[in-house]
Amino acid sequence: MSHNLLAGKKGVIFGALDENSIAWKVAERCVAEGAQITLTNAPVAMRMGVIQKLGEQLNAPVIPADATSEEDLQNLFQESMEHLGGKLDFVLHSIGMSLNVRKKRDYTNLKYDWMLKTFDISAISFHKVMQTLWKMDAMNENGSILALTYMAAQRTFPDYSEMAESKALLESFARSFGFHFGEKNGVRVNTISQSPTMTTAGSGVKGFGDFFTYADKMSPLGNASADSCADYCVTMFSDFTRMVTMQNLYHDGGFSSMGMNPKVFEMVDENK
Ligand SMILES: NC(=O)c1ccc[n+]([C@@H]2O[C@H](COP(=O)([O-])OP(=O)(O)OC[C@H]3O[C@@H](n4cnc5c(N)ncnc54)[C@H](O)[C@@H]3O)[C@@H](O)[C@H]2O)c1
Repeated sequence: MSHNLLAGKKGVIFGALDENSIAWKVAERCVAEGAQITLTNAPVAMRMGVIQKLGEQLNAPVIPADATSEEDLQNLFQESMEHLGGKLDFVLHSIGMSLNVRKKRDYTNLKYDWMLKTFDISAISFHKVMQTLWKMDAMNENGSILALTYMAAQRTFPDYSEMAESKALLESFARSFGFHFGEKNGVRVNTISQSPTMTTAGSGVKGFGDFFTYADKMSPLGNASADSCADYCVTMFSDFTRMVTMQNLYHDGGFSSMGMNPKVFEMVDENK
């Protein structure tokens, strides 16, 4: 059901790779709520993924951009503003990739050139996105910028590896840039810390299936789905959250406040 929460708003959505991607669901919800959007992803993902299908479905141009390239980002925002007919009201950064995780390196044996690339793709790209928007003066008054993150930034989840540090950096960029954007023109910057979700990036983490079940049992509301994350993103892009900025917002069914849930013991007993 649509409430027209984003009527008249224009946005850019990074990171829709396939139908499981959180960004895919966010794009669908934003358009259903009345927004006009452009979609973007890395050129390599364009070839592998099915983002063109989503673009056709939502009547949204798909503009390739490697989020680590400032030149690509300038081109993306320029083309987006031309297509949408003005400055942007919202931007979603939904990007994550770890080379050391992908290549299954242990945390105690990481390759540092890969780690730097991971930080560039998964975290510094968020600063690049915001700095490019800033320099181009591309955000409308009271706009909203969001990035997706995970609680491994605060607590230790061993198999999340260097993505934990990536997310800590990402969240810090949100706070720091949130100050500057807030003072400049009331633009808010936040991160949403999402439950484990069955996507390409998520299931790349070792033992993800078991961990997904554990988090689901631990959380009183269960794991938050990609669809419910999309709903939350819509509220954060809407005018109903105009005074929320520089926050890391947990969207995890209560997981982050739990110590222990007896259901987890039952799960352990079942497996004995
Ligand atoms: N899936 C989970 O369990 C989970 C939980 C919490 C947070 N998140 C975060 O949600 C976000 C979206 O991930 P997802 O789970 O939807 O997986 P996904 O694999 O569908 O999305 C990750 C996206 O990053 C894009 N990307 C990678 N390198 C890029 C680059 N150089 N330039 C531009 N785009 C690039 C990929 O093409 C892909 O579209 C990520 O930040 C992820 O860390 C995911």
